[in-house]
Amino acid sequence: MRLLLSLFVLVVVIHCKTKEEWKSRSVYQLLTDRFATSQGKSTSCNLGNYCGGDYKGMIQQLDYIQNLGFDAIWITPVVDNYDGGYHGYWARDMYGVNRNFGSADDLKALVNACHQRDIWVMVDVVANHMGNTNLNFNQNNPFNQSSHYHDWCDITDNDFNSHNLYNIERCRLAGLADLNQDNQFVTEQLLQWIKWLVQEFKFDGIRIDTLMMVKIDFWYKFSEAAGVYTVGEVFDGDMNFLKQFVGPVDALLNYPLFYTARDVFLHWRDMNTFENYYNSLTNSWGKQNIQYAGNFNDNHDNARFLNDQVSGYIPDEVFLSDKPHLTFSAIKKLQFKAITAFCLTSVGIPMIYYGSEQLYAGGNDPQNREVLWGNLDQSSEMYKFIQAINNARKTTNAGSQDQIQRYSDSEIYAFTRGTLFAAFSSKYDRQVVKTITYHPYAEGTTLCNIFYPTTDCIKVASGKFTLYLNYGEVKIFIPK
Ligand SMILES: *[C@@H]1O[C@H](CO)[C@@H](O)[C@H](O)[C@H]1NC(C)=O
Repeated sequence: MRLLLSLFVLVVVIHCKTKEEWKSRSVYQLLTDRFATSQGKSTSCNLGNYCGGDYKGMIQQLDYIQNLGFDAIWITPVVDNYDGGYHGYWARDMYGVNRNFGSADDLKALVNACHQRDIWVMVDVVANHMGNTNLNFNQNNPFNQSSHYHDWCDITDNDFNSHNLYNIERCRLAGLADLNQDNQFVTEQLLQWIKWLVQEFKFDGIRIDTLMMVKIDFWYKFSEAAGVYTVGEVFDGDMNFLKQFVGPVDALLNYPLFYTARDVFLHWRDMNTFENYYNSLTNSWGKQNIQYAGNFNDNHDNARFLNDQVSGYIPDEVFLSDKPHLTFSAIKKLQFKAITAFCLTSVGIPMIYYGSEQLYAGGNDPQNREVLWGNLDQSSEMYKFIQAINNARKTTNAGSQDQIQRYSDSEIYAFTRGTLFAAFSSKYDRQVVKTITYHPYAEGTTLCNIFYPTTDCIKVASGKFTLYLNYGEVKIFIPK
């Protein structure tokens, strides 16, 4: 008995969060320097440098994240950085913490405060490069020898466009010192480091930067050493190119979905584009692997969806003069709600970029890395929208259930996950009406739209129900 008990304790203590367990989570991606401050820093600052966000500030604002319905966060790399590395991608000492965000104890206090609320913490990590852009490696720890790095060459746009992995793996990204993982010391140290980092701070998952820039065999070892859910970034929308990276890590950030969904909702494309997308992705990655992919509406590397340069599009053939309520900004908001709801409900793990809930609209890096403090408004329209979806996702346990397509044509795409039914349309100029006959609900079931739970309910009768979507709205039904 005592042996059993101590075994049990041991299992609890060393229990690591697997990709299966992550499936039901909903992740809030924040930039540590931009989310919350304990130092009373100004909300207006130079977005190209430190603005003063910190771990203590984050701890004070966990209600904001939890009430929004998220049960995981993804934070900026925590390691010591060269000057100006507010984003965390310019590492100097892999075993030191970035003091701009607080001490190592502050970071531990953050993880602990999150765990007390059952919020999991995913840390961003870099194993491709260090933060110096010269040939002086003296300050880098533990990689302070030139033999730890590739000889200098620069990755070109042409290398990225032609998927020239030979150059992408050994040359510098933005001039940053490129670690040579063929060097045994480098690989051994990186594996030792990631194991230490995860265990020291009790992280529940890692987001891996610049995955395509290191040889694939390294990532098998790195992922195993981390021992937690690993989701990698390959900044590319070509699913067949990405395929080779599915397997070495648990999952990829879902750039194919990002580009597909942006195009569909922004450009009023036919909704059955999603049917084609899922067929292709299933063929390419395998059905199993899609479940762990990170679905994102926006992130820190792309102009936000609501940014003027990429929104406000209305097709030439659509005349809106008879629909005065459909202004550019109204359509933009409908589109953004749609892509955000799609990421939160569709198969994969939602990773929603901070500021979405306040309709942030920043342009290219660093304009898309706005300060959030001063805007931590829990009553905004988009905050409530996201909150409603996260709550429905949790009460129906949708994240752990298969996605089944229920309707697909040019006007509507709909699916269920368990008892949650989600329907989307990119036809912002009209009402669309469909009869849904393929569904999992028993006769007489009342389904209510989570956004209007008391006024928009429908009943399953004669094996079917009627679905109305007005002007590109999203509806999510759950049984009453
Ligand atoms: C590199 O780091 C090692 C271990 O910390 C140290 O012993 C050595 O002196 C360093 N070398 C240089 C050139 O800084």
